[in-house]
Amino acid sequence: MLSEKIITLGITACSPAVQALTLIRELKKRGAQVHVVMTTNAVNFVTPLMVQREAGTPVQIEQFEIPKAYDMNHQSLSVKSDLLLVAPVSANTIGKAANGIADNLLTTNILSTTAPIIFATHINPTMYSKASVQRNMKLLKEDGVIFVENKETKFPSVFPSIEDIIKTVEKVISPE
Ligand SMILES: Cc1cc2nc3c(=O)[nH]c(=O)nc-3n(C[C@H](O)[C@H](O)[C@H](O)COP(=O)(O)O)c2cc1C
Repeated sequence: MLSEKIITLGITACSPAVQALTLIRELKKRGAQVHVVMTTNAVNFVTPLMVQREAGTPVQIEQFEIPKAYDMNHQSLSVKSDLLLVAPVSANTIGKAANGIADNLLTTNILSTTAPIIFATHINPTMYSKASVQRNMKLLKEDGVIFVENKETKFPSVFPSIEDIIKTVEKVISPE
């Protein structure tokens, strides 16, 4: 169970981004509070309105938006979260994270959080096999980022099942 756990969910511009809606529902069902940060590119794949409706908390996208209530956008979520989960995470965001680039609200959260970080990828096989992507993933693993592997297809570039993502989340923040 994930009761009283605060999870920041990052969504990037990947084909299965709409599956984040199911992921949010399943996390909430287990008692987690979910706060979503989307990249500006991700809004082309799933609408912020639908995401916000599912999460029941305000979706954050813009790094430099003036907050309605005083709450430092770029740091507040990363400070109070028990976990930063990015699902799906793009090759682009992986590359930025591996190199300490913080040029949007999500990558700034990745750089400023002290919480564990889980990435669930979905990357085209050609992109996935590129030396740069492999290098970036290796660097992130060495830095402690946890990658959820796809256990059904045995093909690591394919987005894992929601069930496997949840299992990894539970193992990381609610170990028995
Ligand atoms: C239709 C379409 C589907 C895409 N699917 C993926 C994907 O599944 N994984 C991925 O890494 N990039 C994918 N891309 C490329 C990313 O959208 C692109 O690299 C983008 O700049 C990522 O932005 P973000 O990391 O800021 O969200 C896709 C692009 C298009 C146009």
